[in-house]
Amino acid sequence: MITVSDLRKVYRQGSDEVVALAGVSLEVPTGKIHGIVGHSGAGKSTLVRCLTLLDRPTSGTVAVNGTELTNVSDNQLRDARRRIGMVFQHANLFDSRTTAQNIAYPLELVGTPKAEITAKVTELLELVGLSKFGKAYPSQLSGGQRQRVGIARALATDPDILLCDEPTSALDPKTTDEILDLIKKLRDRLNITVLIITHEMHVVKQACDSVSLLEAGRIVEHGDLDTVINTAGSSLATTLLPLPGDAPRAEGSGDILDIIYSGEQANEPVLSSVARRFDIDINVLAGAVEQMGEHQFARLRIQLPATANTAEVVNYLKSIGVAVTQKGDAK
Ligand SMILES: Nc1ncnc2c1ncn2[C@@H]1O[C@H](COP(=O)(O)OP(=O)(O)OP(=O)(O)O)[C@@H](O)[C@H]1O
Ligand SMILES: [Mg+2]
Repeated sequence: MITVSDLRKVYRQGSDEVVALAGVSLEVPTGKIHGIVGHSGAGKSTLVRCLTLLDRPTSGTVAVNGTELTNVSDNQLRDARRRIGMVFQHANLFDSRTTAQNIAYPLELVGTPKAEITAKVTELLELVGLSKFGKAYPSQLSGGQRQRVGIARALATDPDILLCDEPTSALDPKTTDEILDLIKKLRDRLNITVLIITHEMHVVKQACDSVSLLEAGRIVEHGDLDTVINTAGSSLATTLLPLPGDAPRAEGSGDILDIIYSGEQANEPVLSSVARRFDIDINVLAGAVEQMGEHQFARLRIQLPATANTAEVVNYLKSIGVAVTQKGDAK
């Protein structure tokens, strides 16, 4: 489990202060995969640097399985860092070392006996599906294979947390899914806690149990995927379930609603039950259906007839657990 409490990072530039993290709190339970998304400049890289202790936070704490990492002395720092494995966008392998030697590197650094290294490397090669590639050099591997080596190297010191910074941003869609499947498999096998920093919503849909949206150094939305998606007005929900193209505005003056529903409801005729109950025709302007993890989610943009009582329809939809945003509302 990783627990981040009120993490702040202020950079000083001459007399100016840049608040890169303005009090970030976050808890990821053991064995869960958490996504952190945010626009450029939101503070993602700063958060990664503070979590790995490459950068000391200005204030706040980071704890792994209850052990606080933020207040350790400099010579305890190396041990503390071993509890967090890092995976980067580019695997950053040593070109002159074989796959096996790359994976062995963090173990050599801490003086692990040779026989132990060999056994561990064999085990890791098997775990990431590269048993046949131990003797290959990075230049002989595909991008996806290199990322597998990077992941194996990150796991060499048996970390409690795997911190992945844009792990699939340099990969094609098929390889992206293979790497995400590998991360999920490792989580299942090792019960490791995973944090994925990404700008790709696909990664969140495919691999994450929960997600945070970072904006200007603050987490402005967070939660399990289904909770976030079922929150009316959530901007994460609308980016996770984009409507195709620019959803058209229909003729006529009836109110337009964005509705999102999940799980069992996605298989139930939500619209026809509304139509029957209020004896109205509903115009569907746009729609999207997505499978995320175990659940299916649907988002529809609908227009009610001008004669409908919008408030009653909205209340009914909410009463059956549908998230409703009236177009023209806040967001
Ligand atoms: N060493 C530094 N000195 C001064 N300001 C910094 C420093 N590092 C980051 N910042 C500032 O902190 C804020 C957050 O930057 P950060 O690099 O964490 O964003 P990011 O979310 O990783 O963006 P991107 O998606 O573009 O990588 C920005 O305003 C940035 O200019
Ligand atoms: Mg960055």
